[in-house]
Amino acid sequence: MKRVALTGIKPSGTPHVGNYLGMYKPALDLTGEYDAYYFIADEHALTSVRDPNELRQLSYEAAASWLALGLDPEKVLIYRQSDIPEIFELAWILSCVTPKGLLNRAHAYKAAVDENEAAGRPPDDGLSMGLYNYPVLMAADILIVDANVVPVGVDQKQHVEIARDIAEAFNRAYGDVLVLPEPMTFSIVAGPDGRKMSKSYGNVIPIFAEPAEQRKLVMRIVTDSRRPEDPKDPSTDALFKIFEYFGGSSDVEDVRERYRAGGIGYGEVKEKLASALHERFAEPRTRYDELMSDRARLDEILADGARRARGVAAVTLGRVRRAVGL
Ligand code: TRP
Repeated sequence: MKRVALTGIKPSGTPHVGNYLGMYKPALDLTGEYDAYYFIADEHALTSVRDPNELRQLSYEAAASWLALGLDPEKVLIYRQSDIPEIFELAWILSCVTPKGLLNRAHAYKAAVDENEAAGRPPDDGLSMGLYNYPVLMAADILIVDANVVPVGVDQKQHVEIARDIAEAFNRAYGDVLVLPEPMTFSIVAGPDGRKMSKSYGNVIPIFAEPAEQRKLVMRIVTDSRRPEDPKDPSTDALFKIFEYFGGSSDVEDVRERYRAGGIGYGEVKEKLASALHERFAEPRTRYDELMSDRARLDEILADGARRARGVAAVTLGRVRRAVGL
């Protein structure tokens, strides 16, 4: 039997190059080897999105992004979290074996408390129970399909460890019922300015942007003042590192040599990167636009994923309910 990989994406806008390299690509590469469940975490998004139309729109965008980038819905179950009510029931049962202190130590909650304290506000000021319970719902997402591995960015690693701790707490109380999951992290690729690519740093290159817009963002990448004739170290250059992933291999070798020897300016590398990105994502961009203009098709794919995922979820929940006496 294949091992199970599960990951969730919070609907929060279309992916950028950093998301693609750090998450979408490695997660899609796993789908042959694992039974994969890649879902849209729309209930998690309720902690921050308050506009219902925006939430619906973002969920469609998230689904269309996965599909446009090559997720095959025959092989990978793609669904909305909110279409699987079993997850929510499991979350309650899990919360009853979760030590409160475990959640007090969760990074996201702690960071919010620290921010309040630094501003002289009461520690829990403005914080919802949704934010506090976030890791329990995430544990339920993971444990309901008996996931073995959870591909995530490093910022989510602690949440997967908490899910494992919760599964262990459950098993200590009720016997060997839940599978213990493990995080699988991929090294984060630096953004164009050497920092992590992130909307909050304003250094993202969106992959489904219009080619002209994408090119403009690439040309805006911040570089140092070395001239074309100066030798540069390709292994420490953020711009080259991104180009390395998307350029054709002979082109990449050529550019690498010219970095070392001197004889290539950043402007030329940017032009090459812009056309490499264009080539790589032209087809996914078209597919993305097609999917976004066919909501009925997206609904159909998500409903089919949900139906199949619910079958699995119901079996796990049945096992859990019997174990606890419900
Ligand atoms: N918390 C994750 C994020 O913000 C999304 C998520 C929800 C998730 N449930 C999950 C990821 C289960 C992995 C497994 O990115």
